[in-house]
Amino acid sequence: MGQHILAIDQGTTSSRSIIFSPKGSIEAIAQQEFSQKYPKDGWVEHDPEEIWESVVTTLKEVFNKCNLAPSDIASIGITNQRETTLVWSKSTGKPIYPAIVWQDRRTAQLCRELSEDEAFVSYITESTGLLLDPYFSATKVAWILDNVEGARQQAENGDLLFGTVDTFLIWRLTGGTSHRTDATNASRTMLFDIHNQQWDEKLLEKFNIPSSMLPEVMDCAADFGVIKDDIIGTAIPIQGVAGDQQAALVGQACFEKGMAKSTYGTGCFMILNTGDAPLQSKNRLLTTVGYRLDGKTTYALEGSIFMAGATVQWLRDGLKLIDDAAETEALAQRARRDNGVFLVPAFTGLGAPYWDPDARGAILGLTRDTGISEIVAAGLQSVCYQTKDLQKAMESDGARPTTIRVDGGMSRNDWVMGFLSDILGAEVERPEITETTALGAAFLAGLQAGVFNSIDDLTQCWKSDSVFTPRLSKHERDQAYDGWKAAVDRIRCS
Ligand code: G3P
Repeated sequence: MGQHILAIDQGTTSSRSIIFSPKGSIEAIAQQEFSQKYPKDGWVEHDPEEIWESVVTTLKEVFNKCNLAPSDIASIGITNQRETTLVWSKSTGKPIYPAIVWQDRRTAQLCRELSEDEAFVSYITESTGLLLDPYFSATKVAWILDNVEGARQQAENGDLLFGTVDTFLIWRLTGGTSHRTDATNASRTMLFDIHNQQWDEKLLEKFNIPSSMLPEVMDCAADFGVIKDDIIGTAIPIQGVAGDQQAALVGQACFEKGMAKSTYGTGCFMILNTGDAPLQSKNRLLTTVGYRLDGKTTYALEGSIFMAGATVQWLRDGLKLIDDAAETEALAQRARRDNGVFLVPAFTGLGAPYWDPDARGAILGLTRDTGISEIVAAGLQSVCYQTKDLQKAMESDGARPTTIRVDGGMSRNDWVMGFLSDILGAEVERPEITETTALGAAFLAGLQAGVFNSIDDLTQCWKSDSVFTPRLSKHERDQAYDGWKAAVDRIRCS
């Protein structure tokens, strides 16, 4: 066995396999996209077989992209789109329904009905740290059991298994011998008591989900099972698992209380390490498991923004103002300073801390001399202002981020990162490796395999690429942010 680590990063739009060296540098990447299905308004599904095939294809392909063989791999780490819900038959191995994706809103009505019981709503937040919302897995599993013919009976006979994507992959990769998940993924189901680190019996009963369907919850660095040798020719242990945003927290080496990471993909997820005690937000942020190592849970506060890179996509594909996201940096540099234009990207409502599903987007402050540059700049700035909203919410919860580390595609844009630092009034650190999600999974697997000995080893692997320092005065910063808040107020519905 070698000392390299293979990370599987199963995201919302593509699956990737990445090989890391024992020092945490990237040796090879293979990636495959898969289809997004929207069968009805507000529904989002994935074909579990397509997810599985995309993972197996990239697992094989990644070895064609480097001079390494499966025997060079010490351990496998898995990180995944969170909350997405799968239910499959133990006896046939076949999913009984497509994967219901985290973005899917089909259970909104059920959530509205349940929210009439205030005591139940508070109980959910106290036990799971989450808000009652279709985003999480609980109502999705309940929907499958209630709507797929014969599912309820099969579940009661003990033949159905539930899992988020990590669990499904572990189960398939190990030939159906391991039905496991990790504490971070469990903490996104709305069925897991984050204080006792156990499935919550009361919630299982309320959602009518048999406990026999649930996976065993492990630490993030643990022995999850061994992949069958007919997949890539060698049996390799799976030893690290975390949901993608938590994996990024690990990949960014945010191991100290107060350290935060902000990932700019399609949306943006900001996660702040709050140490060994869960902090319940008064500002509609989520309390979640940051990571669990050696039975010790580190908690986190999370804010989710729906539109980050997706705003740039809209500028490109919707408005056709640009041909390529890379053009935005030069355009934004040409924008008039303090032009008063604000773009509020509430295309699918607003996420944290507003949670306003009915709000819709707007561009405000247009004048005769507003041009493409100003609109593009406003689109980029909206991502920074929304991060500021999260920073403010965290501060009001008494948890000011001391360090903010950024990753994801948009973090490569220096103009955006400069403005982010300006508007946050804080230093923003960008690492050399921005594939932090996969790196986090590799770190976890490497810890369990002994490639890394401790968290200190992981911290040593994290290398800074750039640090962005604020250039605005407090007055200028406040003035700009007040303009954003006024723009948001104009479009809010609740
Ligand atoms: O909570 C959803 C999140 O885990 C999805 O992340 O990067 O696959 O869009 P991503």
